[in-house]
Amino acid sequence: MGHVLIQHLQKEYVDRRHKRRDADDPNECGINCIRVLDDVNLEFSDGEMVCILGPSGCGKSTMLRIVAGFDREYSGKIFINDKEVRGPSSEHIFVFQHSALLPWMTMRENVALGLRHLKDKELMKAKIQEYIEMVELEGFEDRYPHQLSGGMQRRAELARALAAEPDIMFMDEPFAGLDFLTRMKMREEVVNMHEFIGKTILFVTHDIDDALIMGDRLVVLSGRPSHVKISRRLDFPRPRDFRKEPELSELRNEIFLMLGVNYAV
Ligand SMILES: Nc1ncnc2c1ncn2[C@@H]1O[C@H](COP(=O)(O)OP(=O)(O)O)[C@@H](O)[C@H]1O
Ligand SMILES: [Mg+2]
Repeated sequence: MGHVLIQHLQKEYVDRRHKRRDADDPNECGINCIRVLDDVNLEFSDGEMVCILGPSGCGKSTMLRIVAGFDREYSGKIFINDKEVRGPSSEHIFVFQHSALLPWMTMRENVALGLRHLKDKELMKAKIQEYIEMVELEGFEDRYPHQLSGGMQRRAELARALAAEPDIMFMDEPFAGLDFLTRMKMREEVVNMHEFIGKTILFVTHDIDDALIMGDRLVVLSGRPSHVKISRRLDFPRPRDFRKEPELSELRNEIFLMLGVNYAV
């Protein structure tokens, strides 16, 4: 189960280096205080692939950390499966923004980290193999992270997260730094993986096409202090093609304008 409810989420950072410039500026909420999230209300169904877009610095990572239970300093309420979030839970897992593989462990050992709780070693071995095969990395089990390409490292991270069999996966810009073709391939892999496991995924990206191609739901946040500009289902058939779905192209132009870019295709 992976139902998520975010009610009246508000977040401010106190930063001693930050100086208030203008008392009327809505970004400023007091001396040394930056308001990042401003009354964010969202609801995601169990199994939804939610893609969260927003300008850089608007608070996407902050929101993910709060929902995952890593940051308790906010106002508002967060519920996962009707239970209020009070800290990180082993039922959810975070896929970090940058490579989270341990460099001194082989790919197989890294994937096994998510399965440490299993007592049955045979079952553990079988599961590790299952997830390595799911991301098409068989044959590379004994390689260390630096011996894998960028795309392979991301797939290994995915296998590690999947092996933990979480209810919800939090993915914070997991495609950052990947070249264009690898990114295309990773989109396909994540969509296939999501179809296969059917778990809720909160996927943060600043790439509009990632969101429109992959999401069951699109969330667009405004600039800081962030509120929700769009939260809507994307019930377009897959594989998605902008040329065949004029509504999808229109939506893309609408989001570009919303994010302050006049870009028509
Ligand atoms: N620990 C922190 N202390 C002070 N300010 C922070 C902290 N973490 C993030 N911020 C600020 O909050 C804003 C939102 O950050 P973040 O959530 O990382 O944005 P995004 O992921 O959307 O790029 C940024 O302006 C950032 O500088
Ligand atoms: Mg971020």
